[in-house]
Amino acid sequence: MITVIANLKGGSGKSTVAFNLAVWLEHNQRPVIGYDLDPQCTFSDLAMLRKEIEIKPDIEIHSVRAVLKDQLLSHGDKEVLVDVGAANMAAMKEAITAADRILVPVPPSQTDVWATQRFLHIIGPDTDAMKVNGNQQTLAFVNRADTNKSIRETHETEAALRMLPGIDEVLPQRLRLRTGFRRSLSEGLTVFEMWPKSKAAEEFRALATALYPDVSGQA
Ligand SMILES: Nc1ncnc2c1ncn2[C@@H]1O[C@H](COP(=O)(O)OP(=O)(O)OP(=O)(O)O)[C@@H](O)[C@H]1O
Ligand SMILES: [Mg+2]
Repeated sequence: MITVIANLKGGSGKSTVAFNLAVWLEHNQRPVIGYDLDPQCTFSDLAMLRKEIEIKPDIEIHSVRAVLKDQLLSHGDKEVLVDVGAANMAAMKEAITAADRILVPVPPSQTDVWATQRFLHIIGPDTDAMKVNGNQQTLAFVNRADTNKSIRETHETEAALRMLPGIDEVLPQRLRLRTGFRRSLSEGLTVFEMWPKSKAAEEFRALATALYPDVSGQA
């Protein structure tokens, strides 16, 4: 399956989620090919850091500025994960033409909802990145949700996302704002490798299992 992780706004968590998902899939015996189409190269830098300090499993990430739909479609049964941001719109549109699904992390704020709306417009059916795959799904979820449950922004963001044409599903599995996500990346680790029993790891596993329900999820 080809999953493109995308949104317009910087810092919404695309690379963090792409990296954690890639390693989680490999831990669960599901081979992954990653594509890092962002000139910042965060996804591929993380893969390189793991190789340098010999953390297993390795993840294979292609860091490229352009990709063709056929290239993404050429990986057979492997899971393909693509990390791409607004800095490379041409590659984002091309990747989306190949995607089985587009995963959209959205921080909980009105400006992020607006940015997501613009993103959906850019990739929508009237554009050159139109849905070529009739079964393509666009899934959104809140990342960096407040840990204080009384703060309303997360619910409001989810409600607003549900109203947006172009979103097929708003996943109920949120990732909250947890330092573990940031700290683990600096060691080349995922949050579930560094702190397997943490809330961050628990939340991440719930998201990963929702996205890949047929993966056994031991990691
Ligand atoms: N749920 C979270 N809790 C805490 N920190 C997070 C969370 N998600 C992401 N971060 C941190 O926020 C920063 C930005 O995340 P990330 O680089 O994944 O965003 P991005 O969407 O890929 O950004 P860009 O568009 O610049 O590529 C990173 O330091 C990351 O570790
Ligand atoms: Mg990134």
